[in-house]
This record gives sequence, C-alpha cells and structure tokens, in this order.
Amino acid sequence: MTGEPRVPVIVLGGTGYVAGECLRLLLGHPSLVVEAVVSTTRDGGAVTTAFPHLAGTAADGWSFVTLDSALESLRFGRTVGVLAATPHGATAAILDRLLTAAEAAGADARVVDLSADFRYPDASAYEAVYLQPHGAPARLSQFTCAVPEHLAGTPARHAAQPGCFTTAVTLAAYPFLAAGLVEDDVFAAAVTGSSGSGRTPSATTHHPERHGDMKAYSPLAHRHEPEMRRLLAAACGGREPDVQFVPHSGPFVRGIHATVRMTLKAPRTSEALAAAAAAFYADSPFVRVGTTPPRLTEVVGTNRARIGVAARGRTLVVTSVIDNLVKGAAGGGIQWLNRLLGWPDDRGLSVPGPGWF
Ligand SMILES: NC(=O)c1ccc[n+]([C@@H]2O[C@H](COP(=O)([O-])OP(=O)(O)OC[C@H]3O[C@@H](n4cnc5c(N)ncnc54)[C@H](OP(=O)(O)O)[C@@H]3O)[C@@H](O)[C@H]2O)c1
Repeated sequence: MTGEPRVPVIVLGGTGYVAGECLRLLLGHPSLVVEAVVSTTRDGGAVTTAFPHLAGTAADGWSFVTLDSALESLRFGRTVGVLAATPHGATAAILDRLLTAAEAAGADARVVDLSADFRYPDASAYEAVYLQPHGAPARLSQFTCAVPEHLAGTPARHAAQPGCFTTAVTLAAYPFLAAGLVEDDVFAAAVTGSSGSGRTPSATTHHPERHGDMKAYSPLAHRHEPEMRRLLAAACGGREPDVQFVPHSGPFVRGIHATVRMTLKAPRTSEALAAAAAAFYADSPFVRVGTTPPRLTEVVGTNRARIGVAARGRTLVVTSVIDNLVKGAAGGGIQWLNRLLGWPDDRGLSVPGPGWF
C-alpha cells in the first residue's frame, strides 16, 4: 500500500490470547510484518500449533523463539515495533532488557505495552495498585498511557494501552466529562467475556464454570478503578473524578459491555447528548455514537467501539461495547504502534467483524 518496506514487529507473550490477536491483525497489516514471536515455553515450536486458525497464511513459516533470539534483530538504525502481551509484573523487566539491548545496538525500538506495567507514571502509584515493586521504574517516563482517542499525538517514545475495562468505560464517560456536561461522579458496571482472563484456566475463570452463569467480582475494588480515575482526570482539568466500578464475568468468550451512569448538570435530550459525544469522536475512525443501545456483535473481532446514550431528567446512562482482545488490547496496541510510527491510527485495522457467532 505504501511502497515502503514494512516495519518488523516482535510480539511478546507468544502463546497467549492477546499475542494471538496481535498475530491475526498483523497478518492483515500493510506496513507491519511479524519478525519474532517470543515464547518462554514453546521455543522452536510452530506458531500454528498454538493458533491453528492462522494456518494457510504467512504464519505457516513462523516458529516461536526465545527473547535472546529476538534481540538479535535489533540492529543499528533499524526501526522495530514491539507488542508486549506478557503478564503484568513480568513485563517491565522484559521490556527493560529489550530496550537496553536496542539502545546498545543503536536500534529504534517502539514499544506498546499491553500489560499493566507502564500504565502509571510513577512506581509508587503502580505499587499501590499491584502490591509489588515495579520492574523498571527508570523506564516509566518513556511511556504514555491513554486511550488513543483521548490524547492527541505521541507525547512519549513508547505507549501503554489501558486495560480493557478501562477502555470501555472511559470511552463512554470521557466526552461528557470533558464537555463539562456531568458531575465528577461516575458509576460503571461492565461485563467481560471469558477470554479476558487469558489462556490458563482457573476454577473461577474457566469457561465451563462461567458458561450459563454470571456474577460480579471485586466490586469497588478492581485494579482498573484507579486507572479509570487517573485517565478520566485528563477530562476534568487534572482532578480525578469519583469512579465506582463493578466488573462482572459474563457467559460469553469475547467482548465487554459497559453501562456507565453519570449525573447531568442540567437535563438534556438523549439526542443532544449523543450528538455532543459524536462530535467529540468525529475524527476517530473507530468510535460511533448513537441513541440505540449497542450490541457486542457489532464490534467483536474489530477495533471498533459503539456507544449508546440515554438520558432522563438529570440521569445519563451510556452503554459501550468493545472487543476486549482487540480494542481493549491487541488492536488498541496496533493503533498506538501506528501512531508511534507516524501513520494513521486505522492503518491495517479497518476489517469488519463477522457480526454474529
Ligand atoms: N485477555 C484480555 O482480554 C486482555 C485485555 C487487555 C490486556 N490484557 C493483558 O495482556 C497481557 C496478555 O494477556 P492474555 O490474556 O493474552 O494472557 P495469557 O493468555 O495468559 O498469555 C500471556 C502469555 O505470556 C507468556 N508468559 C506467561 N508468564 C510469563 C513470564 N513470567 N514471562 C514472560 N512471558 C510469560 C505466556 O506465553 P509463553 O508460554 O508462550 O511464553 C502466556 O501465554 C496481560 O498482561 C493482560 O493483562 C489482556
């Protein structure tokens, strides 16, 4: 499409769900190409053994490699993208090692972290939420964390993709806070599919345990709640709004459905409020706003978000849907990588979803 050589990408967290989505999306990207898929457990194994749905594509030629092997692609003057789909806690040290190697080689590495390790600007804020020391505090200032739609440009060299719940909720709340239409008080309930828990099953996250079931968990105590406050502060002149968040585990595999309640400073119609939010997202290729409540099947498999607005008196209810693995992780990460490389946000990310399952 561009006529220029494609930029190589290293994907970390090789066999995980988010890494699999990174690979699926990268296979259709006109300007990025998979260089290495790093795995701690399957070195030398065919990538298609972990992701059989990628067989019959360029993925047929890919094998998992170690981090050491991937670092050999960092050469002087070479631009390399990195998508980190590794667990929080482990990621910071891995990225520190990778960036140290890139600096030593004179390579131009551009990282997007999909874990939680670079979502806070300082180590103490991270440690207060994750209850463990940060693995690379000196690197924190090199990362910006934001939903791409809520920040112009690229203030830092690398980016951190916010969490999937945070993405769904802040997409819904941000325009109304930024326009000063609502009080600084946000209640959000969101339901996630089972893929949000990653590939390794546990008694509470394993799909057979949750299929046909539904429950709230960590009400008012989930790790994404402080992240939402921090990111929504940018819409409130730097002052953190009071966010109360209740996550739910839902009986489906992919997607997040968020319901966000706010209090209007003055009554307005649903149509007027939807028009205000639509105007806020007018330049975003991925976010669409209306007065009809959105369905998960409108966005699953895509990097899109759909937002539905309803108001009565001073009550505003905004529903928002995203795919947790795409807009909430791999797709949002590639959107950030596009931007870090100076390209349009939507390059390689326009493919529609299947629409039903
Ligand atoms: N699932 C979602 O909806 C979602 C949404 C937003 C953000 N995220 C974040 O994205 C990251 C990946 O999530 P996921 O759902 O893909 O998890 P996952 O399915 O558990 O995959 C993570 C992968 O990381 C590798 N890994 C595990 N421990 C490691 C360690 N100590 N050091 C290096 N690599 C290690 C493993 O791959 P190998 O065995 O091949 O090394 C594992 O398969 C997490 O940080 C998660 O919080 C996930």
